[in-house]
Amino acid sequence: MTRIISPSLLSADFGNLKADCEMINSSEAEWLHIDVMDGSFVPNISFGFPVLEAVKKHCIKPLDVHLMIVHPEKYIKRFAEAGAGIITFHYETVENPLEIIEMIKAEGVKAGITINPDVPVSVLEPFVDKVDLVLIMTVFAGYGGQKFIEESYNRIAELREIMAKKDANCLIEVDGGVNINNAGKLFESGVNVLVAGSAVFNAPNPPQMIQDMLNT
Ligand code: DX5
Ligand code: ZN
Repeated sequence: MTRIISPSLLSADFGNLKADCEMINSSEAEWLHIDVMDGSFVPNISFGFPVLEAVKKHCIKPLDVHLMIVHPEKYIKRFAEAGAGIITFHYETVENPLEIIEMIKAEGVKAGITINPDVPVSVLEPFVDKVDLVLIMTVFAGYGGQKFIEESYNRIAELREIMAKKDANCLIEVDGGVNINNAGKLFESGVNVLVAGSAVFNAPNPPQMIQDMLNT
């Protein structure tokens, strides 16, 4: 089963992004997670294209872009041009998710769909066989460093049932409150991609932490 760690740039040192990109390059992290927040869909604002372009210059790993913005359709082309390898949008932010999935794929980028913890997993049923990735948020989108919501294990199991029913083989990603204590259980629950911000960047030895989370 695929196991990927996607460290979240949100917890990196913004005064020295180049060094953190180089750390990611030489680590076992397969992707770099990029949290884009607009202050509208979520209460927080993070960063946009100039930062993404700068990171793209230094990071050799695929950029796993998580859009927490209203009207993602307006910006998909620009995120693709800025170097996104995967673009994940929130189901809650669009009227026609299929249209957005097609738009992302047309740019030659992998497409992901995500939901906050208060949205029923069943809404994803029509899309699991159309996307490359489903992201189950394990905290409410908006901030790093929040506590993992334990109910998420039931939601992952529910997603797996829906995927089996639809014969879908997208990757399952989780995001929020992931750390060395729950990484093993999450992988065992069928999760393929763990996003981890504070657990990686606040660790005394981030590459070691990435390795430990992978091998837990
Ligand atoms: C939260 C973001 C996460 C965040 C995770 O809205 O989507 O990617 O950076 O941070 P940690 O791993 O610290 O919970
Ligand atoms: Zn994220």
